[in-house]
Amino acid sequence: MERILEAKNIWKSFQKDGKNKIEVLKGVSLEVFRGEFFCLMGPSGVGKTTLLHILGTPDKPDKGSVRYFLDGKEIETQNKSNDELAKLRNQKIGFVFQFHHLLPEFTALENVALPLIIAGEKEKVALAKAKELLTTVGFEQRFENKPAELSGGEQQRVAFARALINRPEIVFADEPTGNLDSKNTEQILDLISRLRKEFSITFVVATHSSKVASAAERIARMKDGVIFEISTNEV
Ligand SMILES: Nc1ncnc2c1ncn2[C@@H]1O[C@H](COP(=O)(O)OP(=O)(O)OP(=O)(O)O)[C@@H](O)[C@H]1O
Ligand SMILES: [Mg+2]
Repeated sequence: MERILEAKNIWKSFQKDGKNKIEVLKGVSLEVFRGEFFCLMGPSGVGKTTLLHILGTPDKPDKGSVRYFLDGKEIETQNKSNDELAKLRNQKIGFVFQFHHLLPEFTALENVALPLIIAGEKEKVALAKAKELLTTVGFEQRFENKPAELSGGEQQRVAFARALINRPEIVFADEPTGNLDSKNTEQILDLISRLRKEFSITFVVATHSSKVASAAERIARMKDGVIFEISTNEV
C-alpha cells in the first residue's frame, strides 16, 4: 500500500490562561494510505481537532514531522514556507470543519465556488463547477439558499462540496456527522464511499460516532496525548 501521509512523534502544547501549559499531543505517530478511510476516535478534549489541524498543515507541531507523498515526491512540511503550505492546501487538501464554517452571507452555490474563485478561476466557470459538484453530493435545487435556510444535513453536504471543489487528494473531516440524524449520517457515509471509489480521495475523519467508525478501514484511538491502538475493520 502506498502512503500519502506520515506523521512522526508529534508534540503540541497550549498555553492556558497565559500561564498553565497543557500538553495535548505527546508523541503521536501515524501513517495514512492513499485512498483509505482513516478514522480518529477518542474522548472530547483528547486532541483530535488539534491533530487534524497539524496533519492538514494549518497548524504546526512543537516537535515532530508531517510528511506528504504526492505526485511521486516526498514533501517535508517543516521545510516549507507558509505560502508554500497554503498552496499545498489549496491544491491537494480539503477540510470539513467541526463547525462547518460556511459563510452566512453567501448562498450555498457561492460558498462552494469560493475556493475556486480565490484560486483564480473565472466566476462563471467556478459557479458552474460548484453546481455540478453540489449535484454530485446529492444537493439539488436549493443552490440560492443561504446556510441558515438549510437543514444540518444540507449544510454538511455543502461543506463537503466546498472541501472537494479543488479536487483534493486528501480530505480531513472533523466530526462531519456531529449534528446529523442517522439518515443524514448514512448519506454522508455513502458520499464518502462514493468519492473514494470515483476519485480515490483519502479521508481522515475525527468522530465520536461508532457508526462512522464502522464504515472506516482503520480506526486510531487516542488517549492521554497518544494513539494507543489502531484497529482494522473487517469489510
Ligand atoms: N488554541 C487553543 N488554545 C488553548 N487550548 C487549546 C487550543 N486548541 C485546543 N486547546 C485545548 O486542547 C485540548 C484538545 O482540544 P481538541 O479540540 O483538539 O480536542 P478534541 O479531541 O477535538 O475534542 P472534541 O471531541 O470535543 O472535539 C483541549 O483541552 C482544548 O481546550
Ligand atoms: Mg474536536
